[in-house]
Amino acid sequence: MGISTIPIMNAILSHLQHSPGSYHVPGHKMGRGLDGALGAWLSQAGRLDLTEIPGLDDLHAPEGAIREAQSLAADAFGAEETYFLVNGSTAGNLAMILTAVRPGEKILVPRNLHKSVLNGLVLAKAQPVFYHPEVHEEYGIASGVAVETVREIVQSHREAKALLIVSPTYHGICSDLKKIAEIVHEAGMMLLVDEAHGAHFAFHESLPETAMESGADMAVQSTHKTLGALTQASMLHVRGPQVDRARLRKRLQLVQSTSPSYLLLASLDVARHQMQTEGHAMMSQAIEAVKKGAGRLATSPHLNLLDENNTPGNFRVDPLKWTIGVTGLHKTGSQVYEHLHLQNRLTLELSDPQNVLAVFTYTDGDRQVDRLVKALQALEPAAKEAREHEVLLPKMLYTALEAKLLPHEAFEMDTERVPLQGAAGCCAGEMVIPYPPGIPLIVPGEVWTEELISHVQTLRDAGVRFQGVEDSRMQEVRVLPQQQKGV
Ligand SMILES: Cc1ncc(COP(=O)(O)O)c(C=O)c1O
Repeated sequence: MGISTIPIMNAILSHLQHSPGSYHVPGHKMGRGLDGALGAWLSQAGRLDLTEIPGLDDLHAPEGAIREAQSLAADAFGAEETYFLVNGSTAGNLAMILTAVRPGEKILVPRNLHKSVLNGLVLAKAQPVFYHPEVHEEYGIASGVAVETVREIVQSHREAKALLIVSPTYHGICSDLKKIAEIVHEAGMMLLVDEAHGAHFAFHESLPETAMESGADMAVQSTHKTLGALTQASMLHVRGPQVDRARLRKRLQLVQSTSPSYLLLASLDVARHQMQTEGHAMMSQAIEAVKKGAGRLATSPHLNLLDENNTPGNFRVDPLKWTIGVTGLHKTGSQVYEHLHLQNRLTLELSDPQNVLAVFTYTDGDRQVDRLVKALQALEPAAKEAREHEVLLPKMLYTALEAKLLPHEAFEMDTERVPLQGAAGCCAGEMVIPYPPGIPLIVPGEVWTEELISHVQTLRDAGVRFQGVEDSRMQEVRVLPQQQKGV
């Protein structure tokens, strides 16, 4: 079984070779019944949209093509075992947490968690102990986690079963996972890494080290985010003696469909194959092009590109992510995002009050970099004229809040809507996640403070969008009525 094999893709193609008649699901019967424009676009791809028929193996009990493809992926990504995910890193985070902790057990969790991690805590009925990443003051975003922070939280909660960390962050900032793994393992805990944004790290030496290389026990990667897999297609990598594999497999069955899409599975197989055969060369040209582009942006006085040199702490930064501070243009990130989208037809990954984020991947090169650099630099002359206009730029607030209930306890409670300005002292009944950066400011069971209310009002008035909440205009929030037990 060499790296040039693509077992799932080959199994599908071999099935198609024999002009098979389909008397099985899915209902569109290999694309034939797909309607309208979707049918036209997917006419060929629909033929690949198969299911667990003879020769195509079974994701939940793999013995053939899927087993082979997962094993090849484990080799490619430096894992002992790799599991394919058809429900994104979301499913991987749920499965990691459900494997690592039993109800009531403690897990150390960063405040810049993705909402799938919070949902994992609810499902596992776990007791989270939150720790905080550093804040990159200049950009107002979550940065890496200091090794000292990990040491302290581990020492204060020796009974915790695992520490979960997000590395890289959405903005590409990486913590020192090697040192963190040592500390966590010395305390007998597992290290779980939400590496959703770092699937490409294994394929070039100038990219940060992977979680697996650094000694993590489990790491989840959204292969679809930075490599060539279809949206949702992701992987969970495992190594070391601490992870109970049988327990993990049971949990994966809990969070994954019994009808996994073969398009997604094949795309994972193909993405791995592409990286192993051509990945290094493709990454080299992309990194080189992006580096040259970064050099050009550095000459722009109104644009401020985040990199390792202007990031305090011992953190690596993914060179393929551009977090560009735009306050020098006297515009908000959202205004720049919208301008680029509408005027230049360039759609970036996200914006926040101060920044925009552009994601480059192995398939980008000089042309793509040049288009963005030119569009950004074209905004500069207007910035000079607009100098007297100041933009309201609230920084993100990441403070520890009192928690009266655990997330799963709060999740089970009745809630009521109250005006945001009257919520002080109430337990949150919903997550409040300014998007971007998608980091919850408060989670169910925590107590609203006046400081947080005023911060949320400022963000709201600056045009930041919120997820997790029922009233996305953030006039009202859901809280737990105080007459309920424990509230
Ligand atoms: C840090 C982080 N973890 C997990 C996820 C979930 O990944 P997926 O969309 O593959 O389910 C995301 C998605 O944006 C994320 O940013």
